[in-house]
Amino acid sequence: MPFAHVTGWGMYVPEPVLTNDDISKLVDTNDQWIRDRTGIRERRIARENEFPSTLGVEAAVKALQVANLAPTELDLIICTSSSPEYIFPATACIIQDQIGATKAGAFDLQAACTGFIFAVNMAAQAIRSGSIKNALVVGTEVLSRFVNWKDRGTCILFGDGAGAFVLQASDIPGGIMSAVMHSDGSGADTLTLPGGGSHFPASELTIHEGKHFVHMDGKEVFRFATRVMGRAVLEALEQVKMTTDDIHCIIPHQANYRIIETAAKYLKMPLEKFVINVDRYGNTSTASIPIATVEAIQNGRLKSGDKVVFVGFGGGLTWGAMVVEWTGPIPAKKQIHPEQYRLFARLRSFVRRAIRYIEGFFSRRSL
Ligand code: ACO
Repeated sequence: MPFAHVTGWGMYVPEPVLTNDDISKLVDTNDQWIRDRTGIRERRIARENEFPSTLGVEAAVKALQVANLAPTELDLIICTSSSPEYIFPATACIIQDQIGATKAGAFDLQAACTGFIFAVNMAAQAIRSGSIKNALVVGTEVLSRFVNWKDRGTCILFGDGAGAFVLQASDIPGGIMSAVMHSDGSGADTLTLPGGGSHFPASELTIHEGKHFVHMDGKEVFRFATRVMGRAVLEALEQVKMTTDDIHCIIPHQANYRIIETAAKYLKMPLEKFVINVDRYGNTSTASIPIATVEAIQNGRLKSGDKVVFVGFGGGLTWGAMVVEWTGPIPAKKQIHPEQYRLFARLRSFVRRAIRYIEGFFSRRSL
């Protein structure tokens, strides 16, 4: 059975920065309160012409560059987002088209902020089954468009950004070692974006009632997160007969500094073992774990051969964790330039649309 290794990683965040002071001009809050309760100082906000696919493509191409893998070699793309571009088509398909992943099947996976862990696990399972060799997992968010900028309980928390991993099959042991996935739908109403689905289709009333914004019982989410995070880490470690002493670092979902602090206490681990960047990006939901991973690698905190635990929680309710032996790119003789495929992808997409139009024109005439 092949092993599933993480061989590439990439992140992208929009340039515009929104500080706590900026938010204090929108709602009754202040920098001190936000920092004390959440650890957040600032977050990035997508420009008008940026979408989950735009951010996701940037992160994906960087991940392919690190892996030195052509997008045409990808068999599978899973995109996970709490702020997808549309209900359908899947954001994954838009990314597939734009990076030129001509043979990849692409779909979205929805598990709120735990999405990245669930998606990496699904991609790893597909690789381990032998049915595919190369997968791309993208977590991408433009949550700023679903936040009620008049609600101080939520608008202080979220930020925009994207992160991506490339996973590849190899006979060398390592990579994704274990994973746990959990859900509790009885807490579905704790964290929700109720409007726009088939339960509350878009109408004047749903807009009037603010159903198209994120709704959250902050205290309940806090309690839930601190309850499940530590336990999920221990469960994932137990699967591979490891303890917290065996791991180099934990990369948690970046929702709130105090939640991470509580998890560290529960696990009796020094906070220094946790990678934390919530101060600069806020909660980027499905993108937070890969963004923190890329920064951990850049800062020399995560190296080839290290054992790392990823842990996340979010709406659903969902939570999960995984133990990974970090690998890095598979050595290759030839240098690949995945970014060059974007031009080819744009051309291919244009030609396919044109052919579809011409075929449609003639088939309508022959009816
Ligand atoms: N600025 C100033 N005061 C505020 C603000 C604000 N931004 N927000 C709330 N307050 C006030 C409240 O009105 C309340 O005032 P009162 O005592 O006069 O009624 C007081 O501060 C305390 O409010 P709480 O809601 O009890 O504050 P709490 O300590 O619970 O912090 C927070 C709120 C930061 C949202 C916290 O509950 C939290 O972080 N929860 C977890 C959120 C989370 O992680 N969500 C995402 C998880 S999953 C995913 O990523 C999608």
